Amino acid sequence: MMKAKVFAPVNLALIKYWGKKNTELRIPANSNLSICLNKLGTRTEVEFKKELKNDEVIIDDKEVIGRDRDRVVNHLNKIRKVANKNLKARVVSKNNFPKKAGLSSSASGFAALTLAGTKAIGLNLNKKDLSRLARMGSGSACRSIDDGWVEWLAGDSDKNSYGKSIFSKDYWEIRILVVVLSQKEKRVSSTDGHAVANTSPFFKTRLNNVNKRLKDLKEAINQKDFSKFGELIEDDCLSMHSVMLTSKPNLVYWLPETVRVMRSVQSWRENGLESYFTVNTGQNVFVVCKPGNEDELADKLSQLKGVIEVRRDGIGKGARLV
Ligand code: PMV
Repeated sequence: MMKAKVFAPVNLALIKYWGKKNTELRIPANSNLSICLNKLGTRTEVEFKKELKNDEVIIDDKEVIGRDRDRVVNHLNKIRKVANKNLKARVVSKNNFPKKAGLSSSASGFAALTLAGTKAIGLNLNKKDLSRLARMGSGSACRSIDDGWVEWLAGDSDKNSYGKSIFSKDYWEIRILVVVLSQKEKRVSSTDGHAVANTSPFFKTRLNNVNKRLKDLKEAINQKDFSKFGELIEDDCLSMHSVMLTSKPNLVYWLPETVRVMRSVQSWRENGLESYFTVNTGQNVFVVCKPGNEDELADKLSQLKGVIEVRRDGIGKGARLV
């Protein structure tokens, strides 16, 4: 049977990937680091069948067309090429969170498609090769293959640019509160955003100091120094958004509610309730805290104006068959 079913997690970038060295190969401008989430993710089933004349792509119960479909078909073409087989596929994929709102559906989506597609077609790739292939679908997807804390080694070619676990999911218990502010899809996709990163006068500055920040963050994780860890992830988020805000066209992903969450997190912190925020290409905010503060923070966050939902999550495994 040429069929496989996979779950792949959303991953949360702590040091961000923004801008590419090579667009076609999706080689990132800088090495970066993320954690796989435990609950948030995508479940995907891929079946290759002789009877199919065209690929069928169903995401969240809807047949997709246009650019979204092309991206999936291109990825299936890559899988078919590696396997040297020409069968068409039916892909059924479901996210357990609102997609395209800065919650990284492309990361979990392409990681799931890569593992399910390669298994269904009869390939048995190792994690490094799966990650390299997932990267071609969406850069950040290469960080949703391996488990726990994953570093994407930027490299400079298809061969040496991939995600690799540096700590297991159980190494250090950090809680993640996903603050959902609006179900609207974001205005500019990350693919289009990466392409204009280098038009920002701050892009070079970011690249000059992001490696040091990555090194410091790994050190903070090594020492389990939560305050240092939190400061560094907020710094990196704001460094990336400085590039976004000053690129051409400029990219303002935040809503007033986004800023409200960011400011609230900072003022609670000043009053002794420690947590830190990070935001991707969307309005929603990820708040990280230690387990002991989770209940109080979740409660306070859900009472803020404009907050639709607060999802609680932890650190989890990478893509796997289900
Ligand atoms: O993989 P993409 O093209 O969706 O880019 C992801 C970009 C950010 O989420 C903003 C940062 C990151 O490292 O995940």
